[in-house]
Amino acid sequence: MRILGIETSCDETAAAVVEDGVKILSNVVATSSQMHAKTGGIIPEQAARQQIKSVIPVIEEALIEASGIRRGKWNKSNSQISHQKLLSHLSPLTSKIDALAITIGPGLIGSLLVGVETAKTLSYLWNKPIVPVNHLVAHIYANWLAPERESKRVKEHEIPKFPSLALVVSGGHTDLVLMRGHGKLKWIGGTRDDAAGEAFDKCARLLGLPYPGGPAISAAAEKFQIPNSNFQMNMFPRPLIDEDNFEWSFSGLKTAVLREVNGNNFKVNEKQKLSAEIQEAIVDCLVEKSMRAVKLYKPKSFLLSGGVAANKRLTEKFLLRKNTEILQVFHVPPPKLCTDNAAVIATCAYFNYHPLGWRNIKANPQLEIVKEV
Ligand code: KG4
Ligand code: ZN
Repeated sequence: MRILGIETSCDETAAAVVEDGVKILSNVVATSSQMHAKTGGIIPEQAARQQIKSVIPVIEEALIEASGIRRGKWNKSNSQISHQKLLSHLSPLTSKIDALAITIGPGLIGSLLVGVETAKTLSYLWNKPIVPVNHLVAHIYANWLAPERESKRVKEHEIPKFPSLALVVSGGHTDLVLMRGHGKLKWIGGTRDDAAGEAFDKCARLLGLPYPGGPAISAAAEKFQIPNSNFQMNMFPRPLIDEDNFEWSFSGLKTAVLREVNGNNFKVNEKQKLSAEIQEAIVDCLVEKSMRAVKLYKPKSFLLSGGVAANKRLTEKFLLRKNTEILQVFHVPPPKLCTDNAAVIATCAYFNYHPLGWRNIKANPQLEIVKEV
């Protein structure tokens, strides 16, 4: 089964075609993050406008790539012709698509609406079923995808086993989820305030590093030279780390960073040190609380996901714990599949195939991960 996934929940416009939930036939992402870098964060109105410009060309690109047609041979469409004409041009490319999948939330309402209304229109025009997808759950499904252009299927031992414990760490969410099967999700913990990605973004801004802050802090931290082997990174607090729960709190970190930054004109190497300290504090909290949950739930697989899962130090620190405790099977997707993309939307829809009539598909910016099985 081939599913066309569409994702427009924030500042990425993405479309992808995935076969049988594991094989990526195309995965196209256009981002307006450079535009938001100028303002140090996302302006929702601008993100939505950008979605409108990008959505049809991105879908077209994904369909062309999945059909194996070389660009030069497909010259029917270009950005000059109207969306309406373009849609009819796309129809011949859809014969091998069995269904559509669309992110309905959570996210920015303006951005979500662009994708949802486009997908509903395509579902009606092409007479294909449409599956609504929760963006957060879809992030977890990056762990089911075979890396692009690789073997047909993820090798048997690489397929996540249930029960799985999933940590979703993105720009707006930090959630721990127990999965007893596809569609059998139980939310077991999360952040009390800022999300981990938000903490990276806000701290980066305080340091004068560009948006998005996670990759910027990570790059600066990598350049930091540890002075000696006894050096401990403990400049910033690790709130709740010893508490017997699955909760995080990251809002205090930015206050602590602000205190360090205030009035100081940092040299480059000081920025690198602060970045390393910020990264270490966030990563320590994520790993410790996750390990607490691993000890209690004893999952067969641990699944890292969401944009922050692209952080190398986070994976490194999880791997340090592998086999030392009960963390036996640890999965982390390649960075490109951690950040927002539509391949995960298509995969999530394949493993949770519940199409709805297009009239019943609605954007829900506040959508959460279900709290009970
Ligand atoms: O999942 P995602 O692409 O979008 C949302 O659903 O929010 O996550 C974006 C977040 C941003 O906060 C970004 O700073 C963070 O993921 N991020 C990273 C890295 N790459 C992206 N954080 C730490 N290290 C990274 N390498
Ligand atoms: Zn996301």
